[in-house]
Amino acid sequence: MAMKFIIILFVVVLAAPQLADAQLSGLLGLININGTIFCSLNGNIVPNAATPTIPFANALVQVSCGGNVLSSAITNSAGIFSIILDPLQSLLGGLLSSCNVVVATPLATCNASLPAVGVLQSPLQLVGTTLRGLLRIVNLVPVLFQLVG
Ligand SMILES: *[C@@H]1O[C@H](CO)[C@@H](O)[C@H](O)[C@H]1NC(C)=O
Ligand SMILES: *[C@@H]1O[C@H](CO)[C@@H](O)[C@H](O)[C@H]1NC(C)=O
Repeated sequence: MAMKFIIILFVVVLAAPQLADAQLSGLLGLININGTIFCSLNGNIVPNAATPTIPFANALVQVSCGGNVLSSAITNSAGIFSIILDPLQSLLGGLLSSCNVVVATPLATCNASLPAVGVLQSPLQLVGTTLRGLLRIVNLVPVLFQLVG
């Protein structure tokens, strides 16, 4: 009994430094989801259009996982949004497999000729990792938007 206890204690002590390391690197990392939304049926610049496609400013952009909104942001005047997530709260694998970027504001808001119903939605893809000091930032971007709903 006492022997068993000592062995367990020994294992815990051995495992502790690794645990601390894992937690530390987790805390020093962030997930950044960003992109630019344009006012068109797929959120991109319409090629060779008579009038240049305007950015979709003040649009509500959400990271949505199975209907649950994890986080959101508003696009700036250039249509750019950026959402920072804590990897301790959202696992990268889950984000890539079951989450979408959703532009919740209807397209008709930026151009009355575009649909008032439905939202732009895109899955996420990993584009790389950047280091900012001690911070490791994992960068994700939308793959391709489609009008859904
Ligand atoms: C998104 O973030 C990446 C990495 O920080 C950066 O290179 C890129 O310019 C950003 N894109 C936009 C639209 O802000
Ligand atoms: C609004 O959308 C229509 C249809 O896609 C397009 O022809 C028109 O150029 C757009 N207007 C502006 C100001 O972008």
